[in-house]
Parts: sequence; structure tokens; C-alpha cells
Amino acid sequence: CGIVGCVLKNRKVAPILLESIGKLEYRGYDSVGISTVDQNGIHLKKGSGKIKEVNEKIDLGELPGTTGIAHVRWATHGIPSTENSHPHTDNEGNISVVHNGIIENFSEIRESLEKEGYIFKSQTDTEIIPILIEKNMNKGLNLEDAVNESLKIIKGSYAIGVISKDNPNEIIGARNDSPLIIGVGDGDYFIASDATAIINHTKNVIYVDNGELVILNSEGVVVKDSKGNVVDKDIDVIDWDAEMAQKEGYDYFMLKEIHEQDSAIRDTLSEKDKIAEIISNLDGINRICFVACGTSFHASLTGKYLIESMSGISTDVILASEFKYSANTLDENTLVIFISQSGETADTLKALKVAKKTSKTLAIVNVLGSSATREADFVIYTRAGPEIGVAATKTYISQLVCIYMFAAILADNKELLNTLNEVPDYISEVLSKEDVIKDIASKYSDVNDFFFIGRGLSYPTALEGALKLKEITYIHGEGYAAGELKHGPLALIDDDVPVVVVLPPGDNYKKTVSNLEEVKARGAHVIVIGSCENDFIKTEVEDSFCINDKVKEIIAPLLYVIPLQLLSYYISVERGLDPDKPKNLAKCVTVE
Ligand code: G6P
Repeated sequence: CGIVGCVLKNRKVAPILLESIGKLEYRGYDSVGISTVDQNGIHLKKGSGKIKEVNEKIDLGELPGTTGIAHVRWATHGIPSTENSHPHTDNEGNISVVHNGIIENFSEIRESLEKEGYIFKSQTDTEIIPILIEKNMNKGLNLEDAVNESLKIIKGSYAIGVISKDNPNEIIGARNDSPLIIGVGDGDYFIASDATAIINHTKNVIYVDNGELVILNSEGVVVKDSKGNVVDKDIDVIDWDAEMAQKEGYDYFMLKEIHEQDSAIRDTLSEKDKIAEIISNLDGINRICFVACGTSFHASLTGKYLIESMSGISTDVILASEFKYSANTLDENTLVIFISQSGETADTLKALKVAKKTSKTLAIVNVLGSSATREADFVIYTRAGPEIGVAATKTYISQLVCIYMFAAILADNKELLNTLNEVPDYISEVLSKEDVIKDIASKYSDVNDFFFIGRGLSYPTALEGALKLKEITYIHGEGYAAGELKHGPLALIDDDVPVVVVLPPGDNYKKTVSNLEEVKARGAHVIVIGSCENDFIKTEVEDSFCINDKVKEIIAPLLYVIPLQLLSYYISVERGLDPDKPKNLAKCVTVE
């Protein structure tokens, strides 16, 4: 979910909220709502569906007032519906709240409030917040104290924005384990889940920490700690522009972001010295654990292959949501590396908090100032710039580049480090042949199942290709280690199931070709991503995408994933879907 709140000096707030919340739509698009406040009290409009659809029906931007809050929802408790959309209000309609996160003890609190006679209109966990605030204000507390008192009994994660009829120029914000930033404009003040929402209005941001309360009003911003003491916070200046979060002529953000991968790598390569410095501080490390989710997990798997083969350091890769079962194997000689484009994934953050107790932690993150960057001992930034498409593309490539640099410096492999500088040009070459993939995509856009196979370093690439396909085309895609196919999934292969083979030249080439022959013999249509100079591909394979022969197996993951991203993108478009906003998914999942 995403939240925004603005207190504006002398402009109507609803159009600004509508524009800002639109920038957060990649965080959730099940429903949307805006609430404003003025001398006449609280005004509210909300509905289920994407912002454009809801706005066409109920004109969210026409609400009056200069202070307000807005929300886009990714449903957790309760189906997407108008009642379950945010903002939620108290029983009297005097208080309005937006919330991102999950309240774990909401059912107990709701039950006891119901016994006291309070009425609930939704199935959400959030609705207890305005009602608790109402109860505390009825006892005579002001808004700030009532919010504080209410939060004392709430367990779970939250970033909230609260407005009240009693304070028409004020927003109270608070955070615990869900992201929240403050934007400081010229007489205008903002809160938001992330900087994308407000970058059109200000580049000056304050990162809110867990347990802090934020008071925004026409006089400015005050941040208080959990004891009520005013905290002196630094103002950071965002180092990217609003234009970077625009489509710039591309049909979708995803396509634009796929095309930005050469520059994303160039920018990320500038982190080399920082990585060398971190490595120089890692005495005594004899084991590395990567922890991540989704696409970041696949980048981590590549790290295992690189580090183990080049340095011999035992390396594990653990899904963040499964991490707790391995936590007691960590010690002070383990380095735990957290990979996350958002730096806000709840599963990853939970694991980071646990790992910190025993081990050194390093976060590789794309979003400046995000929670992971503030929790970890060491931080490396992937310099991909803002990524709006829900399916990760350029952040994946940038994560890989960081991991490659880390592994190469650790193993003192200067040749690999130098080779990385050549990758952006190879990427431009791959992208110039986009039409080849477009044609393949249109040929296979109505199949029901796909397999993606690869060996060694190409295995994570196959997994990532399958994940991209599932995410944005809703076609079942399965990534498999090529050698493992014969131990089960081969039973599923026939002429209805195309198999994508990730086939760079190198050590694994011959064995992967044998696996390709196995699926061909079962009638499968084969699509090969491989070297252009390959006679076998030229003569024996139905569909292929060729990649410069100079790209050796060791750097193949940085190139070979790109045709797979494009394949999913074009199939998605061919099927009439929106690749930027796949159903049921969100870019930043701040719940466990
Ligand atoms: C969500 C996104 C995925 C992403 C995963 C991990 O599920 O839809 O695309 O890979 O989170 O996100 P992170 O920000 O931690 O890399």
C-alpha cells in the first residue's frame, strides 16, 4: 500500500493528493481514497479499482480544503471494496486515517471496542485506529496525544496519516516497520510512503524512524520520539529527478526500465570503491548468507555460484520468509547479505533484525534511506534510479552488478572486474534486436505453460525468466535446472509446452544441449537464448535469440536475462494486459 499526506500553504490539496498517490500506484492498485479537512470537517471519497477508474466515477480531485491524506491499497485484510478502501473514519466521521502495514492484534482490539458499542463498517485491521483515536479524544485528549495513546496498544507494522475535524491544518503521522518520509517544501509539507510521490513538489526529505511521531501543520514539521521528546532530524536531498519517474514516450514503465539497463549498470559500477572498502572491513568471515525475496532472491543465487566458485567461501541463499529456521546457524564469522530493491520488504527486514544480533550485515538496496539501509552494518546502493514497473528489471541487473563486483573483489579477480565495464555495450546490442523477441512472443502468447532451463550460472537466469512470465502474463512458467528436468518435470513436456533454453557458450554448453535434445524428442518447441556463432542453434532450433559470442558464460547472467524480460513483456502486451500493474502483486510488500 502507499500513503500520502499534504498540508499546503494556499492550494487546494485534493488535486495534489490525486497526482501524488498516482505515483505510488505501483505499491498497490486494488482501491484508492482521499480525505481532506477544512472548517466544515472531514470530506472523503474512495472506491475499489485503479485510480483512473475510480476517479472517472467519483472525481476524487474535487474535495475541498488545503490539508488531506490519500491511500492506494494492496489488500491484506478484507477484499477490495469501497468499505475496505482507505481512508477509514471513526464512528462520528470526525477523524480520518490512512494506513500501510498490518495490525496483528486488531481482532482483540476490535472485539473490545465492539463491546463498548463502537460500530465497524469494514473488514480491515485499519479501522480500529480511527475508532481508538475517537475513544481517546472523547476522554479529552488532543489529536496528537490521542494518536500516541492509541498506538501504545497496537502491535504490528504501520505507517499512518491522521486528520481530524478539530485540527483542520494538521496531519499526524507515525511509523513502525512500514516506510514513511517527510517532504519539506516551501510552506508546503508532505508525508509519503516514498519519495516518488512527492518529488514533483520537493526534493528535501526527512526519513522517519520507527517509533517516531510526526506533526505537520502550516507552521512546519515536528518529529517526536516515543517518549514525546522533539527529535532533531537531518534533511536529505534526493539525488534523482521527477523526469526519471516518467514513461518518456515508452508505452509502459517496464519497457523503459528494460531499456535503461545499460545506464543502470554504468551507474552501479561506480560503487566499486565502496565495495572494496566494505570488503576490507570484513576480517574473519568464513561464511556468507544471502537473504532475499522474489527477483532479489534470484540475484542472490547468482552470488552463491560466483562466490563459491571464485573464493571457496561457503555461501547459502535463504528466502527471507523462511529465514528464521536457519537463524541459529549464524555466528560472528558469517556475513549476511540482504538484497532488496525497495529496502522495505517486510520479510527481509524481519530477517535483518534477527541476523544483526549475531552477524555482520550488508544490505544491497536501490532506494536511498529505506529501512534496510538504516538497519544494516554496511550498505551498497544499486544505482538503477526509480523503478516503477512492478516486475523488477533494471534493479535486478544492478543487483547482479553489485554482486559481481563484490565476488570479484573478494576473489581478487581483476579480469572479471574489467570485463564488467564491457557489459553496458553488450546490453545495447541485445536491446537493438528487440524485434526478434517480439516476433517470438507473438507466436507463443496463447500457450498455457512454459519451461525455462539453464545450468550453473544460467539456472538463476532461468528462474528469473519464469518469474517474469508468471508475474506479468499470468502464464504458468517454471524455471528448472536443466539437468534436473529428467527427474520429474520431463513428464510434463509435450508440443504444447515451449521450453526456453538459456545456452551461453562455455563449460555447461554440451550438457545443456543434451537436455535440449531430450525436450525436443518429446515434441517441445524450443526457444534458445545463445551465442550467435553457434551452428547448432542456426540449424537445429526453431526459435532463437542470439547474443554476442564474446559474452562468456561467467557474465552471461547480466545479458541473457534481457531477452527473457522482453519475452514476458511482449507476451503480456499481446494478451492485452498491463505489464506495469500485474494483478494481485505490488512492488513493495511491507507485510509478512
Ligand atoms: C515483491 C515484488 C517482486 C520483488 C519482491 C522483493 O513481491 O513484486 O518483484 O522481487 O517483492 O522485493 P525487494 O524490494 O525486497 O527486492
